[in-house]
Amino acid sequence: MSLVTAKNKEKKRDQWGSKIGFVLAAAGSAVGLGNLWKFPYSVGNNGGGAFVMIYMIFLILIGLPLMLAAITLGRKTQLSAVGAYGSIKKKWSFVGGLGVICGFFILAFYSTVGGWVIYYCLKAFTGGLAIKDPEVLGGIFGGFISSPVSSIMYQGIFLILTLLIVIRGISSGIEKASKIMMPALFVMIMLIAIRSVTLPGASEGIAFFLLPDFSKINMDVIMNALGQVFFSLSIGMGVMVTYGSYLDKDANLLGPAASIPVLDTMVAILAGFATLPAVFAIGFKASSGPGLMFVTLPAVFASMPFGKLFCILFFVLVLFAALTSSISMLEVCVSYFVDEKGVNRTKAAVMIIMVMYIVGIPACLSMGPWQDLHILGNLNFFDFYDKLTSNILLTSGGLLLSIFVGWVWGADHAIEEIEKMGVKFTLAPLWKFLIKYIVPPAVFIILINSFKSVIEAMF
Ligand code: PHE
Repeated sequence: MSLVTAKNKEKKRDQWGSKIGFVLAAAGSAVGLGNLWKFPYSVGNNGGGAFVMIYMIFLILIGLPLMLAAITLGRKTQLSAVGAYGSIKKKWSFVGGLGVICGFFILAFYSTVGGWVIYYCLKAFTGGLAIKDPEVLGGIFGGFISSPVSSIMYQGIFLILTLLIVIRGISSGIEKASKIMMPALFVMIMLIAIRSVTLPGASEGIAFFLLPDFSKINMDVIMNALGQVFFSLSIGMGVMVTYGSYLDKDANLLGPAASIPVLDTMVAILAGFATLPAVFAIGFKASSGPGLMFVTLPAVFASMPFGKLFCILFFVLVLFAALTSSISMLEVCVSYFVDEKGVNRTKAAVMIIMVMYIVGIPACLSMGPWQDLHILGNLNFFDFYDKLTSNILLTSGGLLLSIFVGWVWGADHAIEEIEKMGVKFTLAPLWKFLIKYIVPPAVFIILINSFKSVIEAMF
């Protein structure tokens, strides 16, 4: 450990300016397109309330314990993902490396959707979304995503914005941005949810969202629910390890480890309430996939007083939420090159963004001209990146994190770290039990099924 400390002193590692800054930035990473865009349409695609129920079970039994494990590992080692694993057990640094790779693939398709959000911000400003008819709104969305030049251009703008924030470093860039954006987003999504559930005809959507239909549960739904937990919490690719590493030794870890998932889930549920009742009220299909938010929400705004203003505000905030997440993905990759390879921060960030853009363009094209270019089974690039990251890479990262903290580093050592500075961790025995005996086998079984479905898709 003394070696690690010495290494840090030498480099004067950046740290969070305040504890609330860390919580907001970590919550900023968690809350993003995963909650606002992906959660509602995944609920729609995976049978409604049944998916929500399984999501909640996984969140409590798997997501929460892993969140604490990740932050603790980061704080203990004061190193980003690769170094954090490696400094405890050399051979395990590959888990951090897996996270870096995962970051590339997530940001590749995340930036596609980020680009859509930028386009929608501009469109909202010019009043081009003040339309009630879902068919017209569907046409606008379809027209935009299928035009390759503009969607690739907006994707590039999204990546450049991400780059600009990350270059400014931890406390001045990421933290400052999150402090303003997160609370504003929360208020906004609450208002939209209230409007959506009070629309005439909303009750069918509310029932679809809340009442589980057990006959809808199958292995795919289970796999997707777990993938969504990892994706939404930003767990399994080293984000929380890296963010935790910028925490100072006297910070209490229990508060953030509980409040981040709670906040994240509240936003996802609110996004569900904002979107799904409206889907039914305007006669749209819940299973219409990635376009769900972009088609239904403008219709909700069109039925609200000051709808145009709300529409602008909303898409600007979604953009902020997406950026506080995308910067965390980029940060994992950048901090690897900065901490482990001694590369200059700006240089590393520019280089990585360029590669991400190249990896991302096929995902963007998959929504247009390359829609039917299937690279695995019936998955195009966009779907493939999504499944590869949520169902395979993040899930593997989560499994390895639980084995590492529970067994390799040892749950007792982790508890010791959590209880530093006089913190009392009353639920320590429960956490230890979950991280050692529940999380690894549960995630393992689901992961095996994900691999099985990949293999089946290949042949
Ligand atoms: N959690 C983010 C969201 O919900 C996405 C994300 C995944 C960010 C993995 C970082 C790492 O949008």
